[in-house]
Amino acid sequence: MYSAEFQESLKKVEANRAANTALEPRRMTAQEKDDLLAAYHPDYKKSEFSELKIGPNKGEVVPHELVEILQAKSRIKASDINLEDVKYDVDVLVIGGGGAGTSAAIEAHNAGAKTMIVTKLRMGDANTMMAEGGIQAADKENDSPAQHYIDAFGGGHFAAKKELLAKLVCDAPGAIKWLNELGVEFDKDETGRMVTTHGGGTSRKRMHAAKDYSGAEIMRTLRDEVINLGIEVVDFTSAIELILDENGRAAGAVLMNMETKELMVARAKTVIIATGGAGRMHYQGFPTSNHYGATADGLVLGYRVGAKLLYPETLQYHPTGAAYPQQIFGALVTEKVRSLGAKLVNVNGEVFMHPLETRDVSAASIIRECSDRNNGVDTGSGKAVWLDTPMIEIIGGEGTIEKRIPAMMRMFASYGIDIRKEPILIYPTLHYQNGGLDINVNGMTTNVENLFVAGEAVGGIHGKNRLMGNSLLDIIVFGRNAGINAAATAKNVTVGKLSLEHIAKFDAEREAAGIVTDTVSPKLLPDYRGNKSGM
Ligand code: FUM
Repeated sequence: MYSAEFQESLKKVEANRAANTALEPRRMTAQEKDDLLAAYHPDYKKSEFSELKIGPNKGEVVPHELVEILQAKSRIKASDINLEDVKYDVDVLVIGGGGAGTSAAIEAHNAGAKTMIVTKLRMGDANTMMAEGGIQAADKENDSPAQHYIDAFGGGHFAAKKELLAKLVCDAPGAIKWLNELGVEFDKDETGRMVTTHGGGTSRKRMHAAKDYSGAEIMRTLRDEVINLGIEVVDFTSAIELILDENGRAAGAVLMNMETKELMVARAKTVIIATGGAGRMHYQGFPTSNHYGATADGLVLGYRVGAKLLYPETLQYHPTGAAYPQQIFGALVTEKVRSLGAKLVNVNGEVFMHPLETRDVSAASIIRECSDRNNGVDTGSGKAVWLDTPMIEIIGGEGTIEKRIPAMMRMFASYGIDIRKEPILIYPTLHYQNGGLDINVNGMTTNVENLFVAGEAVGGIHGKNRLMGNSLLDIIVFGRNAGINAAATAKNVTVGKLSLEHIAKFDAEREAAGIVTDTVSPKLLPDYRGNKSGM
């Protein structure tokens, strides 16, 4: 139920609903998209970026907030740590307990490696758990991995590392089969066939889902499997520095108990970074759909030991973050809402774009509508546009919302908004880190031996923009891949003398570059005491 100030606009939305539902908005041309992105997408706002002065990506520009943590000081000095006092000694150390980390751990364990997961919160406190809309895989007869590749390559501005994207799409049907057999309750029709829908930028319906809590259902299943297999999980413990051996190969991590601050040494033959995303960096002051621990830790850990980043300057702003009420500001409104037929409508009740353009284009279009075009709805804390959810019931029939997107219905119902009858207000929210650590197709970083990466901490799988449903897919495909290859590599590794020399080297680089900073990293958790952004 919306208060009086929204009523004038709401009346226009309602008056136009039948016509808008039937409308087929045209797609933008490539030139229109390029012009729109350059003018309105946050990634193109030069004043928000600065140059890295040190490290493997020296000379490249990335968001100010990322520069700050990549060039920050370590939380420790080498002299704080006795590297001979080894608390955990394993073959494969997995840093991160989300979808990528658990998939990696399951495969490493199944390959016979002594495997341990360390996670700064609890297993499953991760962006995987927050994912709603679904997971892509070309496993129907009208589709193919090649078609999936073309969609994702174009959607990512032709910048994906081709071999990574090829692996993603070719392994996708196997990933769905693996999850299904582990027990994920995918949506199926009465014949048992999986129900699939479109996402932005897809040419085929290949989004598999578990209603609109697909990520939670996948995470539940993976977590159960880790527990069933008896894989060691050390929770509420963060990795705060990687350890190399005397030959410069990844050989473990310094761990910190989040509560007691006790420092511990974990030695490993191979290390997998699966630390997830960066939404809690609140780049450019955006709200986020991410979980509380999404602070780009893996990028910092890897960067400090010399691992290169790919496309760290590209972030994904999900077009439809909740803009009202304030209590859920920035929370994800799944793209599936638009897949099921809801359109974006401005303050005048006009449809202003095709609802399933790719995410960067959709976000930029909404930002334009709310800024230069002055067609946004005033929410009291900013501008927003309507997402006309009742269209879903007109198109799919009564009950569609409750059946297909019950979590959305419940979230808004908590604030007195019945999305079956009333539209909702949305604005872009920081959702995904397109860039990350540069890996080879076996999952190992391109320039630090025995250091593997999986999930959102990887850069290059999707290029410079990701399509919906390809992240739940990449955590499974590249999580499993990293686990298998880290376990195989570990068989031939003899760990040399442990070293934290890289900390002093990085300090020297910082001093030589004239950087003065009090910031320490990894950040681990956002700090909301000083200001809203968490920085
Ligand atoms: O809109 C969504 O449900 C998000 C999906 C994704 O980021 O892949």
